[in-house]
Amino acid sequence: MCGIVGYIGNRNAVPVLLQGLEKLEYRGYDSAGVAVFDEREKKICVCKKKGRVENLESALYDNPVKGRLGIGHTRWATHGVPSDINAHPHFSGSENVAVVHNGIIENYMEIKEILQSKGFEFISDTDTECVAQLVEYYYDQSGDFNDAVFKALEKVDGSYALGIICKDFPDRIIAAKKNGPLIVGLGQGENFIASDMPAILKYTRNTYILEDNEVAVITKDDVKIYNPDKEEVKKNVYVVDWSIEAAEKSGYDHFMLKEIFEQPKVVSDNLNRRFKPDGSGIQLDDIKLFREDLEKINKAYIVACGTAYYAGLVGKFLIEKLCRIPVNSDVASEFRYKDPLIDENTLVIVISQSGETADTLEAMRLAKRRGSRVLAVVNVVGSTIAREADDVIYTLAGPEIAVASTKAFSAQVVAMFLLSLHIALETDKMSLEEFDEIRREMLKLPSHINKILTQAPNIKRFMEKYIDSKNVFYIGRGLDYVVCREGSLKLKEIAYLHSEPYAAGELKHGPIALIEESTLVIGVATQQELFAKTMSNIKEVKARGAKVLMIAMQGNTETEKYADDYIYIPKTHPILTPLLANIPQQLFAYYMAVGLGNDVDKPRNLAKSVTVE
Ligand code: G6P
Repeated sequence: MCGIVGYIGNRNAVPVLLQGLEKLEYRGYDSAGVAVFDEREKKICVCKKKGRVENLESALYDNPVKGRLGIGHTRWATHGVPSDINAHPHFSGSENVAVVHNGIIENYMEIKEILQSKGFEFISDTDTECVAQLVEYYYDQSGDFNDAVFKALEKVDGSYALGIICKDFPDRIIAAKKNGPLIVGLGQGENFIASDMPAILKYTRNTYILEDNEVAVITKDDVKIYNPDKEEVKKNVYVVDWSIEAAEKSGYDHFMLKEIFEQPKVVSDNLNRRFKPDGSGIQLDDIKLFREDLEKINKAYIVACGTAYYAGLVGKFLIEKLCRIPVNSDVASEFRYKDPLIDENTLVIVISQSGETADTLEAMRLAKRRGSRVLAVVNVVGSTIAREADDVIYTLAGPEIAVASTKAFSAQVVAMFLLSLHIALETDKMSLEEFDEIRREMLKLPSHINKILTQAPNIKRFMEKYIDSKNVFYIGRGLDYVVCREGSLKLKEIAYLHSEPYAAGELKHGPIALIEESTLVIGVATQQELFAKTMSNIKEVKARGAKVLMIAMQGNTETEKYADDYIYIPKTHPILTPLLANIPQQLFAYYMAVGLGNDVDKPRNLAKSVTVE
């Protein structure tokens, strides 16, 4: 979604802002802009363009601006189409105040009408412009910039991360946040704001993470943070431990490919950290989910969005199978509005790579209000969901830059394996011998993933064969069906291909009517006990002219009789196959997207972190 970066110090702010915006491109956006204070002219210059950051760069090349204070933004349109005018930063009417904003101001129409009745003129369709105008309105009354921002914030409802500058106060950026991430980066004689760490990682790792309703007044040598009552808040410095390389492509054509190839390491990092060295169980660090806590829990509810939701469905399957605890699941946008059946005896598990997804965050808050225990499985350390949950399992995947999630999904699935094993052990549903058998198989997963990754050239050849497909079906049963759902989502997200995941047995209750000569069907059949059943569905689609690409477990040579093409995953314990079976699907979607000439890392219309409803 939208990205924010801001700078105050002794450097020229423009390159700092542009490089920051480039680092935020992965979040998804449709326009970009900067506002910089020009010291000679004593005014704020705004330059903003629809489209990529390159468009903004060339506009700045034609009309250069320079200054040591600035704010920048990548916009993902919510109110008003993508256009130069709707792009941020937004000026107030007198161009005294400039604002960048992530989120949605829900009562912007009301504010706009009041200000219009007082003579303010609006030029954009955005909700953000009303913040700039409102700050100016209060500033005109008092001449106090800080106070004007506090007053404006009292009036706005909704979600925001804001960066605000004022022509008359070129010594400061004011930042504010509510329900949207914002950090302050701390340098020597310079300071930064950013919606996400990669934007400022080149300059500093020391940050303050702003909490909801906090306001930061940032000068080049000082940062003061206030609560809404204007009382100063003391904060701890949070030091980011990512390396710069982790946020670079390191020779891969795309972040997505790099992240796919990082999966063996991500999985082994998780296993090394979570398995007790003596083999006696799982260590979930500071999660307090022991026998006495679990005795109070009579059901679980898994809530997430997108890919994280499918990782959750693997968790649902495992917790029910291994722990015999009933588990409901829902996408967060549905859960929030359905009056879910949860109470203090429910364990609500929320899963989120970014830890900022608005629906997941609100679902979590609802669960907390109802007294449920909330466990969050999160990748981004210090994110809002991680901070507000009762317990957190960090997925240790490092920064995931490509919009389409790959390594974070694998890390979430591993977290689901570990959590279900932990609960099964704590509640005596699993013996140490059974645990040890699975543990040994899990330790082989990184090398199994490496083996699958060596098949990338074959998968690329499948892409060449199937590149003209217009509709793709993914079919499987049980855990394989969950894998199909994730595979189909990946193909939609980056290849822009229509695809449907179906429970293989359900196919004949309708969708089989869509199968015709050369329709591509991807069959996933890694569950030994369901293999024959899935194969009978494969025969049905073959009989109707479909082309079949199978993902099956090594040794099931029956696959070769019916599939046009096939990929084997190494033999493993049946509960572990979703992790492995998904890897060829990631590669297939990746190569299809490359073959179709799509922008793999920044697919159209999508955002990495969806911080609005
Ligand atoms: C967006 C992304 C998806 C992601 C989903 C949930 O839709 O494009 O790739 O799975 O959000 O994101 P989260 O950060 O909560 O895992």
